[in-house]
Amino acid sequence: MEDDVGVPLHSLPSLPSTPYPYSQMGFPERWNQDPFLSLLDGIAGNPDITDEGATLGRVLFHDAQLSIDNSVSCGTCHRQSRAFSDDAPASVGVSGSPLHRNTPGLFNLQFHTRFFWDLRAPGLPNQVLQPIGHPDEMNMSLELLPAKLQALPYYGGLFADAFGDSTVHLTGITDALVQFLLSLRSFDGRYDQGLDSDFENLSEIEALGKSVFFRGDTRCNQCHSGLNFFSPGPTINGLEVDYEWAGDGGVGELTGAAEDDGKFKTVSLRNVGVTAPYMHDGRFATLREVVDFYSDSIQPHPFLDGRFSEDGVGPSGQAPYRLALTLEEREGLVAFMHTLTDSSFIVNPAFSSPF
Ligand code: HEC
Ligand code: HEC
Repeated sequence: MEDDVGVPLHSLPSLPSTPYPYSQMGFPERWNQDPFLSLLDGIAGNPDITDEGATLGRVLFHDAQLSIDNSVSCGTCHRQSRAFSDDAPASVGVSGSPLHRNTPGLFNLQFHTRFFWDLRAPGLPNQVLQPIGHPDEMNMSLELLPAKLQALPYYGGLFADAFGDSTVHLTGITDALVQFLLSLRSFDGRYDQGLDSDFENLSEIEALGKSVFFRGDTRCNQCHSGLNFFSPGPTINGLEVDYEWAGDGGVGELTGAAEDDGKFKTVSLRNVGVTAPYMHDGRFATLREVVDFYSDSIQPHPFLDGRFSEDGVGPSGQAPYRLALTLEEREGLVAFMHTLTDSSFIVNPAFSSPF
């Protein structure tokens, strides 16, 4: 479809007549009891999510009009089928230059206090406008954005539904995007179904992998902890001897401190079966490569997390453990991580592109 000056008309979002019940999509009761998550102040129910606010957020998230040349939306890099991550080691936005880091998945964000691989953004409201203004991502002037969206036929009505006023403004854009992001909740993998049935649903190899994951010597669950399989703080997991020299010092680039060189966010392993490639730079193409790394080639970093030492305690910077896992244990760990894939989340129409 084109208008009379030959400019393609933007398609309209197709939305249900009654909004999806985002405000009701809470976590199962089990999450309230999770001892690890309760250390993080428990879960805050449905923080400030309204069905209309998250609906507006869904449209904004998937709308390429938020970029300078109408070619890139948040969803271009954060793809639902990949739990809102990307399959390229580095995503490409409007500039055509690959970004510096791998695109992380987006779900269960209400447990995170800080964002990005180096945790530089405190809180989602501080994060969501950054990609819009970033020259390589969407390169859209935040000053011009409200008027550009106001001129489209659908935002006035969506703003009126969400906030009672049809004027498009940056605060509302921020608030709606945050509501949508917080509504991205994922808790329905085969692992979760197993919690109710003593894991009778897992195959032999998956069950073996589960025991290796939770076993004391591998320490996987000491960092990828609790029902969300993550920790809010950053750690050094020994990908490099010297990260800054290798090109990305993580938290160390912000603080300049040697003990922060190579500290990166301890990402959630939920949905990790669909978020390849792995690590902050997407260096591993498969989960098997990740497992081989943890088993055989953690690097002797001067501030390597103490949990990777032979006895698992004590100061950082000790020699890395060598798990030398058997072939079966490696395959088991991979199979187990696949049970964390939430296959309904990655197709849920409430989160998909309305365009
Ligand atoms: C061109 C690709 C691209 C686009 C477009 C993009 N992102 Fe991202 N996003 C990334 C990358 C890469 C990172 C990691 C950057 C880093 O850690 O330095 C990221 C990180 C994030 C994070 C932090 C996740 C975490 O666990 O810390 C959130 C939230 C996020 N993006 C939301 C959005 C929203 C909302 C939009 C649209 C307004 C958007 N992104 C557009 C590539 C993109
Ligand atoms: C001391 C904390 C710690 C331990 C123990 C640990 N990890 Fe990690 N893990 C991390 C950190 C930090 C990252 C991100 C590192 C980066 O990208 O630079 C990570 C990344 C990963 C990733 C990639 C996730 C993604 O989306 O890119 C996988 C998979 C993973 N770990 C699995 C495991 C397994 C399996 C074990 C046990 C053998 C384990 N981890 C033990 C801290 C840890």
